[in-house]
Amino acid sequence: MTTTEPQPGRTVAEVVTDTVAALDGQRGALLPILHAIQETLGCVPREAVPVLAERLNLSRADVHGVISFYHDFRSEPAGRTTVKICRAEACQAVGSSRLVDHVRDRYGMELGETRSDGALTVDQVFCLGNCALGPTVQVGERLHGRVDAAKLTTLIDSALAS
Ligand code: FES
Repeated sequence: MTTTEPQPGRTVAEVVTDTVAALDGQRGALLPILHAIQETLGCVPREAVPVLAERLNLSRADVHGVISFYHDFRSEPAGRTTVKICRAEACQAVGSSRLVDHVRDRYGMELGETRSDGALTVDQVFCLGNCALGPTVQVGERLHGRVDAAKLTTLIDSALAS
């Protein structure tokens, strides 16, 4: 299991405790707290769950349930390049599942995985607002439309080469 490195001099528990102290007054504080922790640490590490549960007076199952419901939260840091394949209805209708198969066949990666060298993470996403030009893929911060297997290979290979 990969352990998330907290910022120098701060443990995961300290980051979580400080974040809860800063945001706990908000209504529905768990979501903004989770986002803030991910912003700080690059993920919401598993060891954050019991600390959050205790500080927010929730069960561990409650906290874990929210983290696993929202696809944006990661338990381990993402790779240097993140490729998100849209799997919402409009993109599915024009072949986004073929892109998932292509990533599995060519790169040996399943959705949600990060390569062992930390170079690449492949994730799914549900609508990137580019439905008319699907299948849509986001590489880093950039959206790409009408992506087929060949274009996806080009996008991933050039991201890996940079
Ligand atoms: S369904 Fe894929 S961008 Fe909207």
